[in-house]
Amino acid sequence: MSHKRVAILISGGGSNMVALLDSMRGDHPARPCLVMSNDASAGGLAKAAERGVATAVVDHRPFGGDRAAFEAELIKPLIAAQTDIVCLAGFMRVLTAGFVGQWTGRMLNIHPSLLPKYRGLHTHARALEAGEREHGCTVHEVTPELDEGPILGQARVPVRADDTPERLAARVLVQEHALYPAVLRRFAGGMREPLLMP
Ligand code: GRF
Repeated sequence: MSHKRVAILISGGGSNMVALLDSMRGDHPARPCLVMSNDASAGGLAKAAERGVATAVVDHRPFGGDRAAFEAELIKPLIAAQTDIVCLAGFMRVLTAGFVGQWTGRMLNIHPSLLPKYRGLHTHARALEAGEREHGCTVHEVTPELDEGPILGQARVPVRADDTPERLAARVLVQEHALYPAVLRRFAGGMREPLLMP
């Protein structure tokens, strides 16, 4: 069986990236082909290299605000690695419609909220401020609208009275590390039915 080739884009420590890498083995229909970051100091790059996965860096800073010029470089290692599926995992650059449009149906992202609630940043603090009783994370297909695409999976956690954004984030992150690998395995196998955990 030829495996789907998965590239993972990170900006920092890549805890989701590690969970994804460690899941792609045995009868899993996908294998990692690349881990790439916009930041050469991203801690996840060393973790990928330790696991024998090819890495690349395309620093966004030399391009200033020219997103298209940055993306014209960003796509090269993805093409060279013959990527079938792109997983954004803590990747902190907004991608243009032009770039995303080239990966329609083949690019996933994990977002730390129960979309469509709390698109954007600071999701845990916003959920606490709003008095939410539950919170969680979502894996979705990436479309040009930020945090908008078809939902492929969600995991829920209860909000506790003494939660701080940090404590809530840590509880959600544990679920992210279970959800993203489970969704990628289904997605690589051709399934599109959303996975709802628990
Ligand atoms: C997490 O909150 C994740 O939901 C978001 O980026 C943050 C860091 O993820 N995508 P990671 O630890 O770098 O995978």
